[in-house]
Amino acid sequence: MTRWLLVISLFLILSGCSSDSSSQYQSQDIIPEPVSIKVSEGKFELDRQTKILGDTANTEVRNVANQLKEKLDSATGYDLAITSEQQSQNVISLHIDSDTANYINSEAYQLTSAEDRVSIEAPSAAGLFYGMQSLLQLFPEQIYQTDYTLVPQNVEWTIPSVEIEDYPRFKYRGMHLDVARHFFPVKFVKRYIDLMAMHKMNRFHWHLTEDQGWRIEIKQYPKLTEIGGWRDSTLVGHYGTGIYDGERYGGFYTQEEIREVVDYAQKRHVTIIPEIEMPGHASAALASYPELGCIEGKDYKVQTTWGIFEDIYCPSEQTFTFLKNVLTEVMQLFPSKYIHIGGDEAPKKQWKESELAQQVIQREGLKDEKELQSYFITRIEEFLNKNGRQIIGWDEILEGGLAPNATVMSWRGTEGGIAAAKQHHDVVMTPGSHLYFDYYQGVPETEPLAIGGFSPVKEVYSFEPIPEELTVKESKFVMGAQANVWTEYIQSGNKVEYMAYPRAAALSEVTWSPKSKQNWTDFWRRLQTHFDRLDVLDVNAAQHYNGKIPVFPEDIDAW
Ligand code: ACM
Repeated sequence: MTRWLLVISLFLILSGCSSDSSSQYQSQDIIPEPVSIKVSEGKFELDRQTKILGDTANTEVRNVANQLKEKLDSATGYDLAITSEQQSQNVISLHIDSDTANYINSEAYQLTSAEDRVSIEAPSAAGLFYGMQSLLQLFPEQIYQTDYTLVPQNVEWTIPSVEIEDYPRFKYRGMHLDVARHFFPVKFVKRYIDLMAMHKMNRFHWHLTEDQGWRIEIKQYPKLTEIGGWRDSTLVGHYGTGIYDGERYGGFYTQEEIREVVDYAQKRHVTIIPEIEMPGHASAALASYPELGCIEGKDYKVQTTWGIFEDIYCPSEQTFTFLKNVLTEVMQLFPSKYIHIGGDEAPKKQWKESELAQQVIQREGLKDEKELQSYFITRIEEFLNKNGRQIIGWDEILEGGLAPNATVMSWRGTEGGIAAAKQHHDVVMTPGSHLYFDYYQGVPETEPLAIGGFSPVKEVYSFEPIPEELTVKESKFVMGAQANVWTEYIQSGNKVEYMAYPRAAALSEVTWSPKSKQNWTDFWRRLQTHFDRLDVLDVNAAQHYNGKIPVFPEDIDAW
């Protein structure tokens, strides 16, 4: 057999389709897979006269209606009317159903389509929004076309008659983006949020501060972005090459820009969780305000290479005042209940050698530097709790004792998450084994430079957020899962998309769809349609699992 024949047969075997149906448009290839979908005879056809029907006096309903109109108009070239006048024919109806007992949770929706109308009912605007995402996926992929000047001809804007019942398995369905190792402009961040929303993901963890750059304007401390937002040079190639580009690099978001992104995300039912790293990963902050470090007179620098650095905030009253002031501005910008305070990879060497840090250990009756970190985080937690917020931290915050109300983000495997859930603390699973989207997704020699590791789509899809070690009661503390996109080796938005998609599509199904509906072979089949949508959206998705382009069985073995 030639390679091509092998490819084609592999596609047919994996897709489980006859050659006839594999070439047909799969009109119910929704990702993430809904809880229940029934397809029947007949179809609904969108035309110029179709109206979007909804309670336009309700701002949230109007927001969903406007977004639906924008999407449908830009794909079709129509100028659809939005109306609140009841009518039964040729409408797409968006309705908030006040009888919440009809729904499993607040993000649920019901979507029915028949020849004369489409109806989305939900207990909340979020549910309507997710119903809209499913509706869009029922149309041909050209529905994602956003350029009015490129309205496709000869597309029938029809969807099959369906009855969909749907709701998410987990309330936390997250994506993270590190904008510190490399900086991504507002336009890209919005696009990233749009793609999340398309996949019914609802938490964006914005990693804003790091050793290599401070990316959020803080009015009271302008040097954070004047100095901390910039580095003199950047490592070229893999860690350890010792080669640097010698170019000043940086950037930051103004508070106005942050407000704009928060508002944009809110309209897409995405909550942004900002991360302000402490006590480690603090080089950029210390380069800006060296008096916050433990070593007097040290010439702290914004780092130009990757890794873990010893620079750490000193646990002085001056540092706590600084962090409280920073967090006050952060809270003014981000309405999120959760603020991420980092807590990972904080070497204790400078605390061991610092008179001040040792005095705090003595004064507070602490055992060691790990307990000092716990004291540090607990003080920050007290401050945030007093202001009605909750902290999330990386799983190192378990060491030395968890702060009383902390949520743990389990990244060094699921062990930290298990330990936290057993202590009845909320948990978000984000283990490196499955959900680090900075890892390779193919044979490294054939891939763009990545940090290492190996996490192909199939591996992501196999992730189960509830570990077997937890009892049913303990498992309720697992709020969901998140993938992390660290950007040491990701310099452009294009490459972020390559690393994130389609892996994020797999994660969306892990976090949204019921376990009983998760099936790799069927996901892979639906993913083929999804690649077409991503293509229309011009997303630079990795193509390893795209059966329409050469994928060789020996490569699959290697995955
Ligand atoms: C991490 O990857 N250091 C949370």
